[in-house]
Amino acid sequence: MGFDRSIKIAPSILSADFANFGAECEAIEAQGADWVHVDVMDGHFVPNITFGPATCAAIRPHIKGVMDVHLMIAPVDPYIEGFAKAGADIITAHVEAGPHIHRTLQAIRGAGAKAGVALNPGTPASSVETLLDMVDLVCVMTVNPGFGGQKFIHSQIEKVRELRAMIGDRPIHIEIDGGVDPTTAPLVTAAGADVLVAGSAVFRGGSVTDPDPYGENMRAIRAAAAS
Ligand code: DX5
Ligand code: ZN
Repeated sequence: MGFDRSIKIAPSILSADFANFGAECEAIEAQGADWVHVDVMDGHFVPNITFGPATCAAIRPHIKGVMDVHLMIAPVDPYIEGFAKAGADIITAHVEAGPHIHRTLQAIRGAGAKAGVALNPGTPASSVETLLDMVDLVCVMTVNPGFGGQKFIHSQIEKVRELRAMIGDRPIHIEIDGGVDPTTAPLVTAAGADVLVAGSAVFRGGSVTDPDPYGENMRAIRAAAAS
């Protein structure tokens, strides 16, 4: 079985109704989400605060597929065990989060989760070249992390191309996070990305009681990405 590089949509629940996470996760999966992207922010690494392992543990039973946990926190290591125990399938740490990313990635895999490394817009692709044999995913931030609904930073497309070439045949996903919609999705899939995180572009116009727009939005992104 080759590595699954098919296009995957990972809605970010940062744009969901915080009072209804469980139902929102079930709704987006029922409407076609491949993964569920969970943004953890500590108000230190990024200028916003969301939630921690307890919330991840609470939503886990409502996610049948992949729980993709994006850690925008520093330090990372003290919390890895907590997120792994909460049921995270993938735990992604930022290369900028501290001086010991190699140890952090070892600890993530040691805790039984898949390891991801994320790069802020100002960080070059070369910063992860020595880490490629210990990750399952590279996340390219196409916005400065901390908030949903921001404008896509086009200068990051070249970085996706560089990473795609650097990764070669390794079984590593290239995830794009920030400002993904039907206009920007084809730009990054053409450059080699396979996982598309989308918050505002998926949750726009829908709700737990009217989830059909979630499906329409995801189908529009998927169709554009495949074009
Ligand atoms: C931002 C988060 C993203 C964000 C994406 O720091 O990591 O996952 O929720 O939201 P949109 O798709 O609205 O840019
Ligand atoms: Zn994210």
